Formats: sequence, structure tokens, C-alpha cells
Amino acid sequence: MITRKTEDTIALGEKLGKLLNRGDVIALKGDLAGGKTTFTKGIGKALNIREVINSPTFTILKIYKGDQALYHIDAYRLENNEYDLGIDEYEDEGIMVIEWPEYYRNHLPGQYLEVNFTYIDDESRQIDFVAQGERYEKLAEVMNVDTMH
Ligand SMILES: Nc1ncnc2c1ncn2[C@@H]1O[C@H](COP(=O)(O)OP(=O)(O)OP(=O)(O)O)[C@@H](O)[C@H]1O
Ligand SMILES: [Mg+2]
Repeated sequence: MITRKTEDTIALGEKLGKLLNRGDVIALKGDLAGGKTTFTKGIGKALNIREVINSPTFTILKIYKGDQALYHIDAYRLENNEYDLGIDEYEDEGIMVIEWPEYYRNHLPGQYLEVNFTYIDDESRQIDFVAQGERYEKLAEVMNVDTMH
């Protein structure tokens, strides 16, 4: 679907956040400034995280505490260095959101929900959900229903 302003992308993230369970893994792919971090703010809102969610340039992993723990990974700076953040074993302890999962490929679980962000213009972004694995099919289907417009 298409969101036409920042707040709509936050609202979409919030919608997903409300549907997530402990152990869920979300991979946010796509254009620079596509809205991946903005969307993560919405997930944080749903989890009642009070801290501001952002992506400082040199921070690769940040753990936020809310109703559930949120592991926010921005793999952009890892590029293809295969760096191990050492958090695979914590996957079941919270919700994992990974920006630039192409740079964290070796650590992705077998199943996850992929979200694709496309920059359309200043204010519009296309956002599509793809289930990677059966576990996420229902969630992708629900998330692809346009409730924004
Ligand atoms: N419809 C929209 N959805 C999301 N962000 C929008 C929208 N319209 C404008 N923006 C703006 O675009 C920017 C998106 O930045 P954001 O950091 O979320 O992107 P990103 O995908 O995380 O980028 P990066 O790849 O650098 O991590 C923000 O400044 C946001 O306010
Ligand atoms: Mg980002």
C-alpha cells in the first residue's frame, strides 16, 4: 500500500506492533529514507516503549524495553562483514526488527516477515508485506489490507 505522510507510516508500524508476539522477526528492506526507522517507531509505540527510537549512524543494535523487548538492528554499516552481534540466542526473548537485512543474511531465521519500502516522492512511500515462511502468511495478509485510506 502507499502511505502519504510520515504519521501514516508510524500508524502502519503501530498496527503491526499490536499483532506481534515474542520471537517474531521483521526484516525491513528497501530504499534509503524509505521509512524503515519511521515504521519501527510505530512498532515501538504499540509496545509502549517510551524511549525515542532512532538510528544513530554508528549504532548497529539497540535494545528497547516496553511491554516486550524490542531488538532494533540497523545492519547498514555491517555491509558484508558477517559481523556477529551475538544476539541470535535472544531471538525468543523479544521482537526483532532488522533494517538492511541483506547485510545480516547469515543470522536471519528460517522464517520472518519481510517489509519492502519504496521511496515514491517526498511524502509518499510504498510499503508491502511478504511472508518468508508459513508462520507469517496470515500476518502479511492482514498487513497488506489497506486500512489507511
Ligand atoms: N510517507 C512517509 N513514510 C515514512 N517516512 C516519510 C514519509 N514521508 C516523508 N517521510 C520522511 O522520510 C524520512 C524517512 O526516514 P527513515 O529514517 O524512516 O528511513 P529509513 O528507511 O530508516 O532510512 P535508512 O535506510 O537511512 O535507515 C523521515 O524523515 C520521514 O519523516
Ligand atoms: Mg533507518
